[in-house]
Amino acid sequence: SNPSLLILAGDGIGPEVMTEVQRIIAWYGDKRGLNFDVSEDLVGGAAYDAHGVPLHDDTMAKAQEVDAVLLGAVGGPAYDDLDFSVKPERGLLRLRKEMDLFANLRPAQCFDALADFSSLKKDIVAGLDIMIVRELTSGSYFGEPRGIFTENNERVGINTQRYTESEIDRVARAAFELARKRGGKLCSMEKANVMESGILWRDVVTEVHAADYSDIELSHMYADNGAMQLVRAPKQFDVILTDNLFGDLLSDCAAMLTGSLGMLPSASLGAPMENGRPKAMYEPVHGSAPDISGQGKANPCACILSFAMALRYSFDQGAEADRLEAAVESVLASGVRTADLMQADGGTPASTTEMGDAVIAALDAS
Ligand code: NAI
Ligand code: MG
Repeated sequence: SNPSLLILAGDGIGPEVMTEVQRIIAWYGDKRGLNFDVSEDLVGGAAYDAHGVPLHDDTMAKAQEVDAVLLGAVGGPAYDDLDFSVKPERGLLRLRKEMDLFANLRPAQCFDALADFSSLKKDIVAGLDIMIVRELTSGSYFGEPRGIFTENNERVGINTQRYTESEIDRVARAAFELARKRGGKLCSMEKANVMESGILWRDVVTEVHAADYSDIELSHMYADNGAMQLVRAPKQFDVILTDNLFGDLLSDCAAMLTGSLGMLPSASLGAPMENGRPKAMYEPVHGSAPDISGQGKANPCACILSFAMALRYSFDQGAEADRLEAAVESVLASGVRTADLMQADGGTPASTTEMGDAVIAALDAS
């Protein structure tokens, strides 16, 4: 049977960019014989409007069953005053938590045509293609004890950096698997010089490597040096594996190496299912962009490239993922740009639909 895909377009520009992805999914069925069982449902503010909750239980159950979830974006000013428990973001958090998506994949890929948009010099970033794997469900943001307490008549704020061996083991395996599908190289980052959790991290990664992934070239780096190296010479890296806290910082830093928010895809992976595929959710890094939503201005590339990640990491269609990424790259090189990818005097920007048209034309030509 066909692989299954649940589409949760969400709010704001989410449905606008997802429409273009739907056309690309249809293209793969028509032109490449690659068919998906696609179902659609609501998340975020859209789900709140329909059901009074940002994610219906039935939607949650569906997400657990499909081969991959593709999400647009959630949130918007209409929902800003809602109670915390039903805010649109809670829908997203529930998906991540209940699917136990512990490995967050944030690629930083710099298309040559966009190298001028980088915060760095063109030759440092042109052709950059790295992947940061951030542990997403443990570490400093979850460890106990946590809270603000009173001690010796003053307040003390406490968070705990805590990792179990199995938490490190599973995210390390996810990252080594990726390294095998990519350049065969992995750099693990922690602060083993000053943190016990870092010593354990380094030990477990080394053990997993020796046991099952000795074909991968493994190196270790202190995370502060890693931040420096990311800006100095990012092309030295392929896959970077790191914890939740350091990964939050390092992935935002890496994102800015490549330019626009409208270009950045992401994936969150969990444990392998019975069919061997990991639980997975793919989504653009950007939000619902209320400032431009409803105007046909949104760049659909981040969402399109998120689908390319699904092709590669959920559906074992690496060649088709390459095809889609090359199509996006050729469109950018040809000068077709949405407004976010243009200088102020750059001429008339392409609309969301025109960008989708151009990607499909490039697929046809591939
Ligand atoms: P945002 O990512 O929605 O927008 C930031 C800026 O980037 C805006 O100027 C926007 O127009 C621009 N932008 C974003 N995506 C774009 C695209 N595809 N094409 C062209 N321009 C694009 O972040 P912001 O404004 O902080 O948040 C807006 C809403 O989105 C909030 O309700 C927030 O909670 C939610 N949000 C949701 C996320 C998600 O669903 N994963 C992630 C981040 C924010
Ligand atoms: Mg962040």
